[in-house]
Amino acid sequence: MTWHFRFTTPRICLSLPARSVRELQRLVHAYEGRVDLLEVRLDWLRDWTVEDLEFLRDRPVLWTFRPVRQGGEFAGTDSERVEVLRQIGRRRLGQWVDIEFDVWPPLITELRSYFKVLLSYHQYDGHLPPWPGLRDLFRMKPHDAVKIALRLDRWADIVRFLDIVEACQAEGREGVWVVMGPRGTWLRILTPWFGGLWTYASPGGTVQTTAEGQVAVEELWHVYRYPEMAPDHRIYGILGDPVAHSVSPYIHNRLFQEAGLAAHYVPFAVDDLTAFWSLVRFLPVGGLSVTIPHKIGILQHLDDVDEAARSIGAVNTVVHREDRWLGSNTDWVGFWRPLVRRFGARSWRALIVGAGGAAHAVAYALRRAGCPFWVTNRTYEKAEALARRFGGTAVPWDAVDPTVFDLLVHTTPLGMAPHTDQMPPIPDAWLAGKVVYDLVYNPPETRLLRQARAVGAQAVLSGLPMLAEQAAEQFRLWTLQTVRPDDVAALAQAYLERQGEMFNIFE
Ligand SMILES: NC(=O)c1ccc[n+]([C@@H]2O[C@H](COP(=O)([O-])OP(=O)(O)OC[C@H]3O[C@@H](n4cnc5c(N)ncnc54)[C@H](OP(=O)(O)O)[C@@H]3O)[C@@H](O)[C@H]2O)c1
Repeated sequence: MTWHFRFTTPRICLSLPARSVRELQRLVHAYEGRVDLLEVRLDWLRDWTVEDLEFLRDRPVLWTFRPVRQGGEFAGTDSERVEVLRQIGRRRLGQWVDIEFDVWPPLITELRSYFKVLLSYHQYDGHLPPWPGLRDLFRMKPHDAVKIALRLDRWADIVRFLDIVEACQAEGREGVWVVMGPRGTWLRILTPWFGGLWTYASPGGTVQTTAEGQVAVEELWHVYRYPEMAPDHRIYGILGDPVAHSVSPYIHNRLFQEAGLAAHYVPFAVDDLTAFWSLVRFLPVGGLSVTIPHKIGILQHLDDVDEAARSIGAVNTVVHREDRWLGSNTDWVGFWRPLVRRFGARSWRALIVGAGGAAHAVAYALRRAGCPFWVTNRTYEKAEALARRFGGTAVPWDAVDPTVFDLLVHTTPLGMAPHTDQMPPIPDAWLAGKVVYDLVYNPPETRLLRQARAVGAQAVLSGLPMLAEQAAEQFRLWTLQTVRPDDVAALAQAYLERQGEMFNIFE
């Protein structure tokens, strides 16, 4: 299906998870001027009266008073809810009210005399409602706009959901479209491209948000530059599963911003590449970073791949240029350049620990530079296959001879956050006097690197410069502009240091 969504002005609705009036006041003041609409969750508030809400007079408010049966916290009856909303309406507070599709139509009609009604449909069980049923429902119930919020875990369903959104808009209905959960984060960020009236966002620094997958207002502003979005902008993103904790959106959005480019880079957590590709063909996608598990599967959607990607057997970068989709691999460059920068054009004798995707890029780089290498791996057959493919020597773990190599490259995920206390069972003799290169970048100093230092390694190298180099190379492939890898590394480092704190810049 070809979609025809019209682009809408980017608008943010801040969903306020306040438990007390005082907390509500604090949040409203903190975000004043940064958002277009304030969603007050009356079902979340405790110990309040309608008079307490007077401070919201003349502010753009959406009232939500969600009952338990619809995923909210209000345990009373619809009549009780409506009576409270009636009192608020008589005071002329707020502009919108979110009312569920299963409420009795005369009550909705009455609320419409006070507010604009957002008729909402929520589904938390992963099922997609059939369009005819939804259509009849929307035709029967009075409203000013509709909200469809579904928890979806499969991209095949996300594509069908977009068909529903299209059908809804074709009937002249305005609305808000939400896919809850990690697979829907991209839609929250790219809402304007799908004609959504607004996107819901959470305050930064909160432990609790009102819906899973919601993006913090600060991130929308400062990472994704959401308020600046316009229909002629380009979209980039990281395609993988999972991608929620990727540092790439932070790096690439900053690079686009600093280069003055009208582009936005978003996380695409995808289980089904074929379904995802319908979206890629609709959006103005300029390129993608590709990570586990799609580095091989992506090949079938590309028009061509370059020599590096073909030899490595994996694509980590997609470039869309002149209507062609091209695959490339920047991991080998990312691995190799930090070595050259630090040690010059030296010839290495290397031991690769691990035989997965990253090890393939390492082996390719070593072969290209004419460096002999040995490879050892938990699953020995994979080490053999890698050695065969790139002309190295496979060696069982307990038969590694530490006298033959001067560079050890660690390519397994052991030691990566949050499991920072882990390290592969590497004997000290493999580390002492060697250059030890750990591809893990989070944390920048792994337990393996600490151990290597402690036993007298010649030098240690973390995966952070590799991450930065490969990102800089991706940026060059997409934009034909160069950036300094050191600057990219500083960006990544800053992000990793702040992770867990959450963005909290307005407060
Ligand atoms: N710095 C960067 O820019 C960069 C870029 C790419 C990757 N990396 C790093 O490289 C790591 C690996 O990525 P990848 O794409 O190569 O992953 P992958 O394809 O899944 O390969 C993982 C490798 O690690 C081995 N392994 C996994 N768990 C192990 C364990 N508990 N004990 C021993 N060996 C284990 C696997 O052995 P089996 O064959 O026995 O399963 C396999 O050889 C990532 O986690 C990331 O930290 C960094």
